[in-house]
Amino acid sequence: MRVVFLGAPGVGKGTQAERVAAQFHHPKISTGDILREAVRNKTALGLEAKACMDQGKLVPDAVVVGIVKAKLAEPSCAEGFLLDGFPRTVTQAEELTGLLESKGQRLDRVLNFTVPRAEVVRRLSGRRSCPKCQAVFHVDSAPPKRDGVCDRCGAGLIQRADDQKETVDARLSVYEEQTAPLIAYYRQRGILSELDGSGPIEEVYRRVLHLLPERGAA
Ligand code: AP5
Repeated sequence: MRVVFLGAPGVGKGTQAERVAAQFHHPKISTGDILREAVRNKTALGLEAKACMDQGKLVPDAVVVGIVKAKLAEPSCAEGFLLDGFPRTVTQAEELTGLLESKGQRLDRVLNFTVPRAEVVRRLSGRRSCPKCQAVFHVDSAPPKRDGVCDRCGAGLIQRADDQKETVDARLSVYEEQTAPLIAYYRQRGILSELDGSGPIEEVYRRVLHLLPERGAA
């Protein structure tokens, strides 16, 4: 299964990708998680990415394409993978197509998550993230068992810097300008499925499973 989760910030891509990856034992490649880890560790990549991320802008294509190329070359990705938050521009999509073709592979499916804007803002403003293991919670819809503490690793939860209102507005504009064109890109290639991301997390997960190429194998 080679799958991409596409959609605006906050639609629930990461939440669902986590579950699918665990159920199907395929690696989840989240460029946002990889970049945030680099920022935390103050690596050269992190220092380059931080300024873009803080402003809600995209990190340059060459940087993220390099990250994904390296990940896809790992043996764990040989049988399949799930891309969360990549590609984000037509250039990235074309690089991915070329890379897979060079290995005799192709994407099986691209799931395009949609959620009304007001709900996206509600989800992002209430999101709490674990800086250590990257687990994601929500103060109302997915609260941790202990207030402010990660269920998985016990670290203190934080609010992502780019979940502040002004940055969320910038990220949504960037999505419309640079990422939304990928909907037509993948529809033309016959591999796009539309997914309504509204409703409880479990209900959305059932819709996701229904659209995945390997659902019978779960
Ligand atoms: P990234 O981390 O990829 O952020 P994003 O795409 O903006 O997506 P989010 O993580 O905000 O949302 P999500 O859809 O995963 O929602 P989640 O499941 O967390 O990217 C961050 C930055 O990195 C970018 O701005 C850019 O600078 C850079 N970057 C990353 N990739 C790049 C690329 N390819 N090219 C260039 N730059 C790149 O859910 C959100 C909240 O809602 C959570 O609290 C969750 O608990 C809750 N929730 C989830 N589902 C539901 C539900 N069904 N009902 C109620 N609440 C729900």
